[in-house]
Amino acid sequence: MTTKQRVLAFLEKNKGTAISGQELADTLKISRTSIWKAINLLKEEGYAIEAITNKGYCLSASSDLLSAEAIRPFLLPELKERPFHIFKTTESTNNEAKKIIVEQANTEAIVLTEEQTKGKGRLGRFFYSPPKTGIYMSLILKPQMTTMDATLITTAAAVAVCLAIEKVTKKKPKIKWVNDIYLDGYKISGVLTEAVTNFENGTIETIILGIGLNFRMPLEGFPAELQSIAGSLLSTENPEITRNELIAEITNQFHHIYQQIETREYLEAYKERCFVFGKKIDFRQGKQEFEAIPIDIDQQGGLIVKMENGEQRTLSYGEITI
Ligand code: BTN
Repeated sequence: MTTKQRVLAFLEKNKGTAISGQELADTLKISRTSIWKAINLLKEEGYAIEAITNKGYCLSASSDLLSAEAIRPFLLPELKERPFHIFKTTESTNNEAKKIIVEQANTEAIVLTEEQTKGKGRLGRFFYSPPKTGIYMSLILKPQMTTMDATLITTAAAVAVCLAIEKVTKKKPKIKWVNDIYLDGYKISGVLTEAVTNFENGTIETIILGIGLNFRMPLEGFPAELQSIAGSLLSTENPEITRNELIAEITNQFHHIYQQIETREYLEAYKERCFVFGKKIDFRQGKQEFEAIPIDIDQQGGLIVKMENGEQRTLSYGEITI
């Protein structure tokens, strides 16, 4: 850890409280000049650190710049060593993840950014990713499974996002099959899973699990075309929770559910939150459009629907409209 990272970790731990330069120097066993330099570097990066006369340095309680130092304290012990790659801006964290796995083939890692300029949604869509108000994260995972099971990762991620939100905010988000998270009728989060397969033996070498979440309402609001669909988790300017905390909780919840992929235990939690059952839906297969009523989720995360003629079908990918 660099001096700057150590100072940041200490300030994050004591957010909202003034710490004297002397206390920082004594605790971290570094000179006051080094502390001063680190504080200046952090301020240049945008950290709201106030120097209070006779009291010391105080990182604003509402500070929420993404950093490994702010996320790690909330992570499960077994995840604390996981490497982070954090960007101010990038086209897409899923694309960054693909570059990272070329260089570091065997590491599971967490990729984050404050903003995405070409955020990718499912079915070739764009995921609106303005600076600082959203969570744009990609988990690099190294599973041992076939392509079939990769779809389960997506449903597992939807459950993880819901459980994390429930834990840190007490709100009750719902899932629209397959992986859209809704709150009060608006979509607040989506998941885009990409798999890197070994062509020789058909196994998945890496899964890139991309999660996008509208944490706060963007200052300029959502673009016109999203206004009737998109919502955000929190509407207040200074929320009690931070993106850093929620990122850690999503990572923790996913880690826990990931252990249940084989047994499918988590599918119960998925079904409990899925709000499409019993509702009339439309979906496309090829060029044809169909109407049906969803009745269940199968063991692969597919949606079992009842067609108008009473026939049952299972949808394994795509999108439904309610
Ligand atoms: C969807 O709702 O269609 C899926 C949206 C997934 C967005 C996330 S944001 C982080 C990761 N990087 C991307 O480019 N996309 C995913």
